[in-house]
Amino acid sequence: MNRIEVIVHSIDQLPPLPAIIHQALQRINDPKASAQDVVEIIQYDQGITSQVLKVCNSAYFNLRRQVHSLREALVLLGFNTLMQIMLNKSFHGVLSRSCQGYDLDTGALWKHSVSCAILTEIIARRLQQEPDSRLFTAGLLHDMGKVVLSANVRETFAAIKNLVREQGYSFVAAEREVLGIDHAELGALIAEKWKFPPAIIAAVRYHHTPWLSGGDYSELVGLTHLANCMALLTGIGGGSDGLYYAGDPEIMEQYRLREKDVEKCLVQLNDRLQAVEAWLEVA
Ligand SMILES: [Fe+2]
Ligand SMILES: [Fe+2]
Repeated sequence: MNRIEVIVHSIDQLPPLPAIIHQALQRINDPKASAQDVVEIIQYDQGITSQVLKVCNSAYFNLRRQVHSLREALVLLGFNTLMQIMLNKSFHGVLSRSCQGYDLDTGALWKHSVSCAILTEIIARRLQQEPDSRLFTAGLLHDMGKVVLSANVRETFAAIKNLVREQGYSFVAAEREVLGIDHAELGALIAEKWKFPPAIIAAVRYHHTPWLSGGDYSELVGLTHLANCMALLTGIGGGSDGLYYAGDPEIMEQYRLREKDVEKCLVQLNDRLQAVEAWLEVA
């Protein structure tokens, strides 16, 4: 096996995706499926249901009555919040691993990923759009490839850094040059292996290079790119590569967020991040 094949093969070391998450994501992607259809699937998973209900009944949501079923939770909290509680819980473990190749301590990648996920929604709302339910998943998983590529980046860090510093490569282009594959492509391969919807795979694959997406799923790809750039601005979980990416000028032009908008988004992010941390503690 050559180096790329060995790297791609190491995807198998990741824990398998729970079947229930897979089914729920398939339904999210089906425009004909209703929120009730998705709840119908999740409710058969005892573990996830009890965790979601625990969070719903926590002091954070301050609901006036006890919630006993996912159907009730859906009515009171809405579909997106319900999915977010479930996704955060499911991916918290794997995204919390330390990624030393990127100089990310335990928990740092998770914090960056969840910041990006939350920002996709905050930005969509600021642009007066109803957030697509796939956005949060795309934001949460966009850097998943780092979990697998970290060891290879660590081994070849000097060569990657050299291309970035001396020849002006972006970090992702330098990964590709040195290792033959980059963390965005590897993340997309993981998402493919897990049979994620094509829109989420595209958002992960092109989160640093939206101009290469050929216009497919442009809204999801563009917002994930923008949210990642904004998440990097906070410095949370930016890692050793965080400063070596550029925003796509066309997307920046298209969404036209002013400095004031960005500031407001980041204030909102801070509140929401605290909420998510509270959910995880409860669960
Ligand atoms: Fe990335
Ligand atoms: Fe990122």
